[in-house]
Amino acid sequence: MILVLDFGGQYNQLIARRIRENNVYCEVHTALSVEKIRELNPKGIILTGGPQSVYNSDSLLPPTEIFDLNVPILGICYGAQAIAKIFGGEVEKSQISEFGKTNLQILADSKLFRGVNQNSVVWMSHSDKICSKPENFSVIASTNACPIAAIENSAKNLYAVQFHPEVVHTVEGMKIFSNFVDICGCNRDWKMDFFASSTISQLKNKIGDGKVLCALSGGVDSSVAAVLLSKSVGKNLTCVFVDHGLLRKDEAKQVEEVFSHFDLNFIKVDASKRFLNRLKGVFEPELKRKIIGEEFIRVFEEISKKIGAVDYLVQGTIYPDVIESGLGKSAVIKSHHNVGGLPDFVDFKEIIEPLRLLFKDEVRKVGRELGLPENIVNRQPFPGPGLAIRIIGEVTEEKIKIVQDSDAIFREEVEKSSEIAKNLAQYFAALTNMRSVGVMGDGRTYDYAVALRAVLTSDFMTAEAANIPFETLNTVANRIVNEVKGVNRVLYDCTSKPPATIEFE
Ligand code: XMP
Repeated sequence: MILVLDFGGQYNQLIARRIRENNVYCEVHTALSVEKIRELNPKGIILTGGPQSVYNSDSLLPPTEIFDLNVPILGICYGAQAIAKIFGGEVEKSQISEFGKTNLQILADSKLFRGVNQNSVVWMSHSDKICSKPENFSVIASTNACPIAAIENSAKNLYAVQFHPEVVHTVEGMKIFSNFVDICGCNRDWKMDFFASSTISQLKNKIGDGKVLCALSGGVDSSVAAVLLSKSVGKNLTCVFVDHGLLRKDEAKQVEEVFSHFDLNFIKVDASKRFLNRLKGVFEPELKRKIIGEEFIRVFEEISKKIGAVDYLVQGTIYPDVIESGLGKSAVIKSHHNVGGLPDFVDFKEIIEPLRLLFKDEVRKVGRELGLPENIVNRQPFPGPGLAIRIIGEVTEEKIKIVQDSDAIFREEVEKSSEIAKNLAQYFAALTNMRSVGVMGDGRTYDYAVALRAVLTSDFMTAEAANIPFETLNTVANRIVNEVKGVNRVLYDCTSKPPATIEFE
């Protein structure tokens, strides 16, 4: 196992994922004591990036005893600066902040850079830099703005890089992680099915004879979580599907139909009235998310009272939900309904989130290992707050109908061509809060603009707008303005994430 010590960077789980891609088990932890680290017995440790500055007295640094554990250590960005500081080097605010792609020049032979080109593109994102290296370390790479871009103490197997090898833009990042895995002497024999079997046995031990409620949305994450739980506690699991009235067209029926074929206790709750009531007059995206997050929990609490003696609530939370909701010292991007949207008081002994550390494509792999059908494993994601975050501003029944009908048309047209649909990670319609002037027949209209969004991504942390053929977009636009009352304009969103996000709110 390789241990990742998390100092709050946005990309930290990507580090874990890169290690898992090398078939090595990896866990990410924040602020662990050295005793706990010894218990975990890692074969290597990675110190991540983070928003703090090592020279501030209140910044979190790793326990210095980890350097006596005799395991290889790799520091990335903030982690690299922490190593430099602990060993007597100096870190200061950089004159020039470096954000984005830059050229790295390798200066010395290092096990960390074995097979990496002498000049390659790396991703930088920092405003501090190491300005003097510690004794017994040598500089192994530099960039124009950062002469000390990587250092090592090869005798102690300590490595520190200022750039981010975990981000795809670092062209040879995977090679660097592979080299680190070799330096750590890992066997590379871990597979995703070990995740399923070890999670099932951990859940069995934890829950015993306890009763469990699983929040099931019919999407891949909660379906995989439900199957993991069902394999752990059998009939002590009840899956609850809440129709909050913010689902896609006909979705409630479809989810019910799919899960009626599973050997699961399945309950559907029609809660649309209460959700819509609570959303009346609410415009602000974060408030909408919080209201929906709370209302979900209240529905689950009520069901659990009816069933009686339910200890645990299970959610299919995955890593991007956690990081965007603001983890530790990371910034809040949006409060995913099942993380940052949770109310302060939740009437369950505990919330269990078995997929909390995985990315969407890893969850799909687990789903396949568990034998879930492809139509569930490959379902495009649908956010818990549903259409509420695809309707800018106040949610009304009229707007829900507009977005449902427009979305159904867009999906139907895209799915006519498997060539187009197969590459898209997510595609949907959203309702902008903008009205504009149009002309229909011989009359003036003043109606809504619908926005179409389609993205390419594997981990949903970054995404590109998809290049959908104009013919398809044109057909969709014509159908929407003709078939959906209240819409006279259709726009296509060409923005990538970042700087936009995938959903509109
Ligand atoms: P963003 O909009 O943050 O979306 O780029 C990234 C992915 O997460 C989904 N998403 C959510 N999923 N609860 C969820 O279960 C939420 O509150 C939520 N918000 C966004 C989004 O659909 C995309 O796949």
